[in-house]
Formats: sequence, structure tokens, C-alpha cells
Amino acid sequence: MTTSTAVVSSLAEQLMQKLEQKTAVIGVVGLGYVGLPLAVEKAKAGFNVIGFDVQASKVDMVNEGVNYIGDVVDDDLREIVQKRKLRATSDYSFINEVDAVAICVPTPLDAYQQPDTSYVESSAREVAKYLHPGMLIVLESTTYPGTTEELLKPILEESGLVCGQDFFLAYSPERVDPGNKHFNTKNTPKVVGGVTPDCTKVAASMYRSVLEGEVHEVSSPAVAELEKIYENTFRHINIALANEMAILCNKMGIDVWEMIDAAKTKPYGFMAFYPGPGLGGHCIPIDPFYLTWKAREYNYHTRLIELAGEINNSMPEFVTERAANLLNKEGKPLRGSTVYLLGVAYKKDINDIRESPVLHIIDILEEKGANIVYSDPHIPSFKRRGKEYNAVELAQEQLEKADIVIVTTDHTAFDYDLIGRFAPAVLDTRNALKNAAKPKRYEIL
Ligand SMILES: NC(=O)c1ccc[n+]([C@@H]2O[C@H](COP(=O)([O-])OP(=O)(O)OC[C@H]3O[C@@H](n4cnc5c(N)ncnc54)[C@H](O)[C@@H]3O)[C@@H](O)[C@H]2O)c1
Repeated sequence: MTTSTAVVSSLAEQLMQKLEQKTAVIGVVGLGYVGLPLAVEKAKAGFNVIGFDVQASKVDMVNEGVNYIGDVVDDDLREIVQKRKLRATSDYSFINEVDAVAICVPTPLDAYQQPDTSYVESSAREVAKYLHPGMLIVLESTTYPGTTEELLKPILEESGLVCGQDFFLAYSPERVDPGNKHFNTKNTPKVVGGVTPDCTKVAASMYRSVLEGEVHEVSSPAVAELEKIYENTFRHINIALANEMAILCNKMGIDVWEMIDAAKTKPYGFMAFYPGPGLGGHCIPIDPFYLTWKAREYNYHTRLIELAGEINNSMPEFVTERAANLLNKEGKPLRGSTVYLLGVAYKKDINDIRESPVLHIIDILEEKGANIVYSDPHIPSFKRRGKEYNAVELAQEQLEKADIVIVTTDHTAFDYDLIGRFAPAVLDTRNALKNAAKPKRYEIL
């Protein structure tokens, strides 16, 4: 654990005491995939927590103890709401009651692939209206290095209060990995970088009072902001490499999965990443481009990130081409064929379709005139380009009716033997049928 022994101001000391004794009231702004688990952990640790969200439906659900995030345990939420440890509101004036607030709002890209920091800005403006001396604000949304000091600090200081003196400001990236069975909000190490040493100390003490994982202090918000994007860029680039290998292996007649399994036996200097139908979720496809944008300010072109993005973005096209080739072997065109997609979530066992590559596969298949059927136990229905899609139950009859099945998401709930026995042809983009029965026509990515 990285800690310094510097003496802190009395305002910082008071807040740290409240945090240690769990008498501080904690606010969480944005009750989504990141914010709700965080609010629940803080309430479970003994704090009184107020959640803020602009979506009235989420506020109502939280106040009724109804869970809508996979990583939150239903009973945990119900219990802390019943005990009044957690309540939600859309009314920012409750910031008046809060000692420390974590901001967990979306940071997407805009139509020009540039950072859209409007959610961070608007929530900061609301917090600024009710900012009071001795308060801590931590930004947890993923963003480019400089956001906390260049964007957030000036907005908060419009209140007339001075950062590091009257209030404390830090950045601490969220690392939650939805669906991960071992690591969650509570046991994942946290990185914290404050605008001043006091800001770092106070923010770190908040996380230490809640989390089991290590709290690692860094010298500035920018270091913490960049390390988070570096983590996700590392995945982005390594997945692109695995995807490039899949494209090449297909040409060479080599099984890319077998090759990676072999490489994985090296006990050092190698970490396995796998190919797939493309990137998805609110993080990996987006975050590296926050850095690309910021780098331009320094007249630097992040070529590796751009190239990885090109490869990853080409995967839905590659998958549909492979499906068309497989159908062609049966003398069938894509137009008019029934393509049965297994999984629309961007990864296994979760209910998130944001940026899912399967949506791009659907767009291409629709353009080419295929009939689309899908199953996903986590996504009963969704809308895409104005059209509503409803899931069918995975069953022998559905499989037999399809011209081709594409395994797009390797959900645990799918019966892969059933798929292998009754689908006429399968394109498996996840190596999900590795240990299952295989149909006559079977190809992996
Ligand atoms: N989802 C992940 O796996 C993950 C992991 C690590 C980091 N992150 C980062 O965390 C941040 C949040 O992501 P998320 O997945 O939780 O997003 P989300 O869309 O699930 O949740 C964000 C919530 O913020 C609310 N919101 C928007 N504007 C608001 C405002 N002005 N005031 C109050 N609430 C507002 C939205 O209604 C929504 O409920 C992003 O920066 C993301 O990159 C996400």
C-alpha cells in the first residue's frame, strides 16, 4: 500500500475521522453499472448513502429495493433500502447533506468519435450548486488525463470555494468487470490521485473504509486517469492482435484457439487474449479514443490505438463474410436465409448490449436481406434502427429451422450439445462448442 505520512489540514482531518467512523454521508451520482454496486458497498459498510440519478425509473427502483444490475445481489439492495442506509433521488439539493460524493456518469464518444464529457460537466454543475466546505468529490468515470483538473475543478470552484483548501477533489478510476465471479467492487484494488496531497489522503481514506482491496495512491489525478485508459488500451490492442491472428489463421487453415492454448503454456511473458466478433461494452471500444483525442493536443498521433481499432471494428464484417461462405457451401445465399444468432450481449453472462458487435452483425445481415432470429437469456428484447427484436427460446425446433447458427456470445446458459446436434451449420465465434457435439458444417472463427 502506498501512503505518505504528511500532516493534513484540520478540515481534511475532520472528514477523514467521519469516514473512518462511518458517520459521513456518502453520495453516488449515476446509479448505473458502476454507481449502483458502489452505492451498495458503501451502504453495506455502514455509511448512509444517497444515490443521485436523472432517470426517475432507476431512482424509483432503488427506493423500492428493486435491483437492475447483475453484479448487485438482490437481497443486499432490498436489505439496505429497508434499513434506510441507501436512498435515491433526482434532487441535487440533497448534496447539502453529503460529505463525500463519487461521480459515476457515462463518458461516451460523440458522433465524431470525440469525448462527450457533457454528463460529467452537467453533474459537476449540479454538485457545484450545493458544494459546501469540507466536502470530498471523486470522479470515477473513465476519461482522458486532465479532466479532473482542467474540467471539473474550475466548475466546482465557480462556487467560490477553493480546491484543496475548502473542498477536496480526486480521481479514482472504476475497474468493475461485469459478470466477473472473483473480482468485484469490494475486492478490486483502487487507484487514487488527488489534486493536492490532502485531496489524495481524504479520498484514499474513503475507499479504505469501504473496500477490501489495496488503495494505491498516485501523485496526481492525471496519473490515475491515464493508468485507467492504459489498462483498457492494453486489452484493446491485445484483442486486436488476437483478432488479426484469427483472420490470418483462417487463411492458413490453422485453428487460432488451439494455437493460443499452446502459447498460453508459457508461464511468463505471455497473457492469453482471444478473438471474437468484435469489441463491446461501455469501456474497451471507447476509452482508448479518449486518449487519442487528448494526444492531438500534444501533436501526437496514437497510431497503435487507431490500428487496433480498425482491426477490431472490422470483425463484424469478417464474421458475416464467414457466415456467407459457410452458407454458400450449402448452395444458399445470405438473402432469404434464416440466420440464428446466439447471444446479443457483448460478453458472456451479462445483460449489457451497449456497443455490442452483435448489433453491427445484425445491421450487416439486415442490409443483405437475411432473416434474423436470436436467443439470449439475458436480453429478452431490444430495438435496433427502429426495429424491435424479441428473443426465442433455444430449442431443437428453432435450431432445425435455421439455415445457419452463429454463436456470438458464449453464455453459460446455452446448451451447446443441443446446438451441435440440431443446428444445420454453426459458425462459432467464441470456441463455445469446444467440448460439445459438432454439426456436419462447423467452423470456428
Ligand atoms: N460498465 C463498466 O463495466 C465500467 C467499468 C469501469 C468503468 N466504467 C466507467 O464508469 C462510468 C459509468 O459507466 P456505467 O457503465 O456505470 O454507465 P451507466 O450508463 O450504466 O450509468 C450511468 C448513470 O448515470 C446517470 N446519469 C447521467 N447523467 C447524469 C447526471 N447529470 N446526474 C445524475 N445521473 C446521471 C444515468 O442515468 C445512468 O443511470 C463511465 O465513465 C464508464 O466508462 C464503466
